[in-house]
Amino acid sequence: PETGCLSIIVLGASGDLAKKKTFPALFNLYRQGFLQSNEVHIFGYARTKISDDELRDRIQDYLPQGKEGTEDVSSFLQLIKYVSGSYDAPEGFKALDKAISEHEISTNSTEGSSRRLFYLALPPSVYPQVCKMIKNHSMNKSDFGGWTRIVVEKPFGKDLASAEELSSQIGELFEEPQIFRIDHYLGKELVQNLLVLRFANRFFLPLWNRDNIANVQIVFREDFGTEGRGGYFDQYGIIRDIIQNHLLQVLCLVAMEKPVSLKPEHIRDEKVKVLQSIVPIKDEEVVLGQYEGYKDDPTVPDKSNTPTFATMVLRIHNERWEGVPFIMKAGKALNSRKAEIRVQFKDVPGDIFKCQKQGRNEFVIRLQPSEAMYMKLTVKQPGLEMSTAQSELDLSYRQRYQGVVIPEAYERLILDTIKGDQQHFVRRDELKAAWEIFTPLLHRIDNGEIRSLEYKPGSRGPAAADELLEKAGYRQTHGYIWIPPTL
Ligand code: BG6
Repeated sequence: PETGCLSIIVLGASGDLAKKKTFPALFNLYRQGFLQSNEVHIFGYARTKISDDELRDRIQDYLPQGKEGTEDVSSFLQLIKYVSGSYDAPEGFKALDKAISEHEISTNSTEGSSRRLFYLALPPSVYPQVCKMIKNHSMNKSDFGGWTRIVVEKPFGKDLASAEELSSQIGELFEEPQIFRIDHYLGKELVQNLLVLRFANRFFLPLWNRDNIANVQIVFREDFGTEGRGGYFDQYGIIRDIIQNHLLQVLCLVAMEKPVSLKPEHIRDEKVKVLQSIVPIKDEEVVLGQYEGYKDDPTVPDKSNTPTFATMVLRIHNERWEGVPFIMKAGKALNSRKAEIRVQFKDVPGDIFKCQKQGRNEFVIRLQPSEAMYMKLTVKQPGLEMSTAQSELDLSYRQRYQGVVIPEAYERLILDTIKGDQQHFVRRDELKAAWEIFTPLLHRIDNGEIRSLEYKPGSRGPAAADELLEKAGYRQTHGYIWIPPTL
């Protein structure tokens, strides 16, 4: 592994994302020994004029055990320095450069590499100017190697054209291997497991195709609304917020062909092919919803048609998946919080048990909460009688991996940016292909051509969504429910 001075610069240090995700993830990496205090320095940068200690105080409460102020917490906080400045003025970035260089000199004495990781916890509208400032004033200049990398977060644009513009503005300043586009779903344990599951198990190889699979659902539900983020959310909506990025990334991993190797480029090549095979989404295969009360948020316009819920069918036109609906579902303010992949298999041909009620086989990957994989199958009901029942083979992580801590998505992904591993990051052509799929639909929604149906907060969403699911061929198993095992 590389050694030498590492500077992590969090731009937008006093914002929500930095406080809630970036700094806690850095702290967890620090606690586990991935950030050595003799090499690493963390810089916060934002416009507000505050002292180092004020920034540390703001961060502290969000750290695990922050309130207790353990030794780890205080030594971590001591690694953080604050520099204030605007996002478009050279002075600020020169001051930042000076602070980083001073740290590099004191760490490296005379010769040593310099690694600079810029984390843009900022709204994308300022990405281009910030990237320009970094490029002009704050790059790694060491003669002894190292790198400069930038980490960016969605939303990457609002549609194909704006995303492409953003990509080319950043692309003029940085090479693709320097740019890390985060989609934090790619950092989740069970998402990272998909590749292993699919390509390291003989069980799945012959079944994973249109001959055996009836439909696939990729589902995201939250049991809370937009909660203070209404102003941001209203400009994007659930498709841009969740489906175009998080769920689509999951779809790629479920549907892609086996990559040539585990090299990040080989994997991403296969993901791009899946995206390019998705055919235009039909309006009649889309149901949109908006929960009652969404517009009570003062930052949301009274006439907003922005969906907080969507169900839609994606169709992949290739040899493996022709005819298999991939149903994407996402919603806020629903009756539960969970994210899962549900693969439903076709009926058994020549079924001799058909007079008895039998459900279809399903393979479910529960991404969160209670990470698990389970296979729903039909078994003989134990007892004297010969009858069938639905049961499951259950791999529940909490039970099977007792005491194993599952890392946070951001923790893993930030570690990857330090290592330079881009497997779990979105490549430019991948992003483009993702926008190509959704842009026509999004424009029709923005123009009011497809309306959002109202649904009650705490419900399953609009009834029309369940009808669409049924039309797409999903068959619900009645009288069976999987209950995560308790210890
Ligand atoms: C974010 C969305 O990307 O993901 C939020 O902007 C959403 O609206 C969040 O709540 C969900 O992430 P997770 O990891 O809690 O499923």
